Amino acid sequence: MSINEFVEKYQRERCQTNALKWDALAERFGDADLLPLWVADMEFAAPEAVTEALTKRIAHGVFGYSIVDDQYFDTYLGWQKRHENTPFKREWLSFSTGVVQALYDLVDCFTKEGEAVMIQRPVYYPFSNAIKDKNRQLVNSPLVNVDGHYHMDLADFEAKIVENQVKLFILCSPHNPVGRVWTEKELADVLAICQKHQVLVIADEIHSDFIMPGYQFTSAISVANGAYLDQLIVLNAPSKTFNLASLLNSHIWIPNEALRKQYRTWASKNRQTESSMLGQVAAKAAYANGDAWLASLIEVIEANYQTIRTRLAQEAPQVKVGQLEGTYLLWLDLRQAIDENQVKTVIQDKAKLAVDFGSWFDQDSKGFIRLNLATTPAIIHQAIDQLVASL
Ligand SMILES: Cc1ncc(COP(=O)(O)O)c(C=O)c1O
Repeated sequence: MSINEFVEKYQRERCQTNALKWDALAERFGDADLLPLWVADMEFAAPEAVTEALTKRIAHGVFGYSIVDDQYFDTYLGWQKRHENTPFKREWLSFSTGVVQALYDLVDCFTKEGEAVMIQRPVYYPFSNAIKDKNRQLVNSPLVNVDGHYHMDLADFEAKIVENQVKLFILCSPHNPVGRVWTEKELADVLAICQKHQVLVIADEIHSDFIMPGYQFTSAISVANGAYLDQLIVLNAPSKTFNLASLLNSHIWIPNEALRKQYRTWASKNRQTESSMLGQVAAKAAYANGDAWLASLIEVIEANYQTIRTRLAQEAPQVKVGQLEGTYLLWLDLRQAIDENQVKTVIQDKAKLAVDFGSWFDQDSKGFIRLNLATTPAIIHQAIDQLVASL
């Protein structure tokens, strides 16, 4: 399917559907009249198989307590075999109502108040919220930006683990917002340091299905043929991939049996929640039938990315566009275009764009913004028009 065909077929008007991205602009930004390119969801409907499966299930009319059937895992494993090919095992899996919920729970379960938890800023801000809200000590080993390409500073990472007696590291892979798809070598290096110092690792791999052409995703589970499984928890979900966030279904994979028992005991005392039946119906349909839909969506994202790169290079070369390796979130460096204290005035008040501001991710990233590429080419062009005019 061509990009135009995909957009025409799946694009939906989201205003007045209680869409956070569109209908909460006044509440979140203080201005309802903005073009939204913030929060990570899309203007596109899920694959038809998803709506069909949901419609059929809803027509049944009974929504009592439900169980997860064997088909769920088999379908997911089929998806895995066709895509990233990580050797997940059925017994490792627990469900959560969201990756962020899982992060809060895992911080609670595996660390005590006051203990140190490491992140790599600029990073998805709920990581910081979970650590702070749970009264843990936030330790940051900042990513290093070399001409728009971010990498980890392993010496700093290890020194901070030792200095703060870090107990838990939350890895974002692929990385939101800087768009990196970590290589197996990068992951092996950082996981080896964690193993050496007995640091538990939570790998948030929710963006693993969004890998741009030419890049290769490696799950932390597969690194060095599973050498780090014992100290690892992986989080992923169908919600980002197929735009199903409101259906509240995500995965917690815990390979180590003792850690898994510890989590399940904790969960049985603190989380007496059912899993999301409709979320699982949708996920199963998507994992069984969503391959072509996702392939076309990635073409749309890649094309939107190239549009921004090309147009900004010509019309506003002072704006530096990061390399998009994975995710559908683009990190723009505005530091040569705008005084970093003026970013909100220029981007929101003048350009009328609702974006994720760099300062939400990290005080040192005030000169950056994050744009959402999982939208129509028309919205991307309008956003660039407004951005360029405001500069
Ligand atoms: C890295 C990362 N983790 C988690 C989430 C949200 O996951 P959930 O909606 O399952 O809480 C997002 C959403 O953008 C994300 O970028």
